[in-house]
Amino acid sequence: MSALIDGTWVAVGRAADVPLWEGRRVTVDGRRVAIFRTEEGVHAVSADCPHAGGPLQDGLVADGCVTCPLHGWRFDLRSGARIGADDGALTRYEVVERDGELLLNLESAGGPASAGHMAGSGTPGA
Ligand code: FES
Repeated sequence: MSALIDGTWVAVGRAADVPLWEGRRVTVDGRRVAIFRTEEGVHAVSADCPHAGGPLQDGLVADGCVTCPLHGWRFDLRSGARIGADDGALTRYEVVERDGELLLNLESAGGPASAGHMAGSGTPGA
């Protein structure tokens, strides 16, 4: 279930439902997004592996990366970049925790080239 917060941010579930080193998949506006928690916080990337559609939310999480459970492609969760290759990057999204909820910014969708550049949306309640 998802609920629109302010036109940009969408509530996609409880933060407690994404334990450390695990991923969960949500679907918002027809987009399948995998949300992960690492020691750095939460990360959101496209859920379908660009190789053959593997379920990245079920991948092994370590060192800030997720490994696809089907054939082992590895992705940096901070940037969406595929490790060891220039192609096959994931779309990444800005995600934050507020009052125990996960809020996703679909307008922030970007790849490695735009990582860290979340065009002017700001964070909810900031
Ligand atoms: S489907 Fe992910 S590595 Fe093949």
